Amino acid sequence: MNIEQLQSTIKAITASGKGILAADESTGTITKRFKSINLESTEESRRAYRDLLFTTVDLEKYVSGIILFEETLKQQALDGTPFPKLLADRGIVPGIKVDKGLIANESAPEEKTTQGLDGLPERLAEYKALGARFAKWRVVYNVTDTFPSRIAIHINAEQLARYAAICQSQGIVPIVEPEVLMDGDHSIEQCAVATEHVLDHVFDSLAKHHVISEYIILKPSMVIAGKDHNKQASIEQVAEETIKILKRKVPAAVPTINFLSGGQSNEAATQHLNTMNQLSNTPWNLSFSYGRALQSSALKTWGGQKENVKAAQQQLLKRAQLNSLATLGKYEENME
Ligand code: 13P
Repeated sequence: MNIEQLQSTIKAITASGKGILAADESTGTITKRFKSINLESTEESRRAYRDLLFTTVDLEKYVSGIILFEETLKQQALDGTPFPKLLADRGIVPGIKVDKGLIANESAPEEKTTQGLDGLPERLAEYKALGARFAKWRVVYNVTDTFPSRIAIHINAEQLARYAAICQSQGIVPIVEPEVLMDGDHSIEQCAVATEHVLDHVFDSLAKHHVISEYIILKPSMVIAGKDHNKQASIEQVAEETIKILKRKVPAAVPTINFLSGGQSNEAATQHLNTMNQLSNTPWNLSFSYGRALQSSALKTWGGQKENVKAAQQQLLKRAQLNSLATLGKYEENME
């Protein structure tokens, strides 16, 4: 294990006022996103879009790391520079999504698990040689009256721990991402119970697999009601419940918690993060690792048209800047 590499990556990622841009949509997911702007998803259109994101002037002031999909890690920017080099030259740490996506969970047929552990050490070595310094593995949990089931919680926790142990052994910082999904009509209370169980098992498994807490990035969902629930909680309630559950289950040794946005609106994702940073002294850095909440307005503004690149980059920069302020508890609604 190369502790110095792990330490320096954590230090770079947790720089004050900065967070992570999740730009690691799989081919299937980015194709869905492009469909919303009537754009065909091809290797070239995906390359053009990632080029737009990564060449945004001043992005490095607010973004310390970017998670890439494997195809992007191996692609070149429009000027011919390999994407990981372009990012590293700007002082942005390149990361890589290493899970191979969701599959049916044979032990819990209506729930999902994640694949990709086979051959992971070899793939990580290759990604590292290409410039990746941190990785991501996402597991998901549905919330209903009966889910997430005990077996789904157990299997996902074991996977995250095995993945994280492999990453650390190779000097790669693992993003540990247990996402309690917003899909459905569950209440914030149900989400709180599910999140607490999930985190309990995740940290138990991480410890059993000798994963060092100091060298992980936790990427959780917030404690929030399902999208279809008839009563949405206030910004303050989401912030308070999220911090309450995290304080119960996340070791103080974990350096940083970088939330996913999970389908929240741009503004809600920023407000929640801001309020959490205003609320209380927590032992961890509290920041973002947003995908949609950073990208959606930029994607819409771009619309696949070259002449819209600058305007789209302004949209990305604006969300990055506002979320940067939120990591400091200094965001205000009138800045929108
Ligand atoms: P969202 O912020 O859009 O949820 O994406 C973050 C992510 O990386 C999901 O795995």
